[in-house]
Amino acid sequence: MKHTDIKEIISSDKYIGQQVTVCGWVRTSRNSKSVAFIELNDGTSLKNIQIVVEKGEGEYKEPRVGMSLKATGNIVEGRNHTKEINALPSHITILGDCPTDYPLQKKGHTLEFMRSIPHLRSRSNTFNAVWRVRSVLAAALHEYFQKNNYVYINTPLITGSDCEGAGEMFQVTTVGYNAEYKSEEEYCTNDFFGRKAGLSVSGQLEGEMAATAMGKIYTFGPSFRAENSNTPKHLAEFWHIEPEVAFAELDDVIEIAEDMLKYVIRRLLDTCPDEINFFDAHFEKGLKARLEELISHDFGRVTYTEAIKLLQESGENFVYPVEWGCDLQTEHERYISEKVFKKAVFVTDYPKEIKSFYMKQNPDGKTVAAVDLLVPGVGEIIGGSEREADYDKLIAAMNERNMNLDLYSDYLDLRKYGSVPHGGFGLGFERLIMYTTGMANIRDVILFPRTVGSIR
Ligand code: 4AD
Repeated sequence: MKHTDIKEIISSDKYIGQQVTVCGWVRTSRNSKSVAFIELNDGTSLKNIQIVVEKGEGEYKEPRVGMSLKATGNIVEGRNHTKEINALPSHITILGDCPTDYPLQKKGHTLEFMRSIPHLRSRSNTFNAVWRVRSVLAAALHEYFQKNNYVYINTPLITGSDCEGAGEMFQVTTVGYNAEYKSEEEYCTNDFFGRKAGLSVSGQLEGEMAATAMGKIYTFGPSFRAENSNTPKHLAEFWHIEPEVAFAELDDVIEIAEDMLKYVIRRLLDTCPDEINFFDAHFEKGLKARLEELISHDFGRVTYTEAIKLLQESGENFVYPVEWGCDLQTEHERYISEKVFKKAVFVTDYPKEIKSFYMKQNPDGKTVAAVDLLVPGVGEIIGGSEREADYDKLIAAMNERNMNLDLYSDYLDLRKYGSVPHGGFGLGFERLIMYTTGMANIRDVILFPRTVGSIR
């Protein structure tokens, strides 16, 4: 259907005086004796275009909110340099009717209500803005890595090993469990792959294999977590960006994470000013200033041990008690980033017991070269580490965790054949979007959220 994007028309003077055809959905419609006004939105911009209909000629049937239509007319300059379309009734074609039970008749629905209509919520300004930010950030991430000599790789979504060793994996099976199987092993042997398989929680282990050949790689794809976390920041299916770099130590990993985030946020501010102003006005006052501040200052940095001390000396009444060795909870993460540093902060060198087997063991024998990035409002958005490159130390860490070494023989080979210091991190894409839009619930930054007890 030949037509022009509304975004093109409103952002350029070259269409003034020209005839154009636009298509879209009716946001509002007003009718007076001689003229009618239709606000049309085609999704290409937060802004609508106004169609001014001269009712003198031909029969005019007022369109209803939500209807889709096509209109042809001349572009004229309206008040405040806006663009309008002057159209005759005969040049307006209704493409799809919309009865009055259309749920988006009026503005101001709650986000909870919008979650109950995921198939329609994209037609609101809020979700239009979120999906555009999502798209621009995705492009900016690819751009950053491509410019810096990273190779984009695709790691398997179905895996035979659980990357984190945490076991919170969705099982992939084509045979229903049958009580006749004598053991889990027998059941899995009869399954599609002949052994237990699941949806990958991370592409890191395969990413390491590619990085120790290509030097610098990144993945950008879905990860799956079967953890029973019904919180505003956990999804069962989320999008994960995982760069992995050879010849890199923990400090290099931290430098890359900061550089990457600053790049993509700068890109976002340049590309989506309308969307950022919208979120600033409606969801988080001061969002734009906060993002501008982020890209112009160094991120904070603190060790886990120092962070524990800060929390213990805070005088705050935390729900989860703080002692060396505990996992940092969201309330702790937010205190560190919001109250102490008031900005993004890297926390490094966590106790080895609360981190994964593959992290490089520090000389103190107690901590590993891990890093999490905490940001105000969200908490952790990045988790990474330098990897253990020493074959014997890695085997010892796996044995301490009673892991089945046979399942990781490929991974262990990397430490046998030309091992190098290397590291990387995982960025949760939805958490980045929460941080850059001020949206407080992760269910509102992905088109169809999958969370515990909910799929649609
Ligand atoms: O800290 P995580 O679990 O680290 C890994 O998976 C490593 N293999 C990454 C690596 O080093 N290559 O996850 C990384 C990030 C978290 O910081 C968080 O932003 C996001 O992934 N994430 C989730 N996002 C939404 N819902 C969940 N259930 C998430 N779990 C992790």
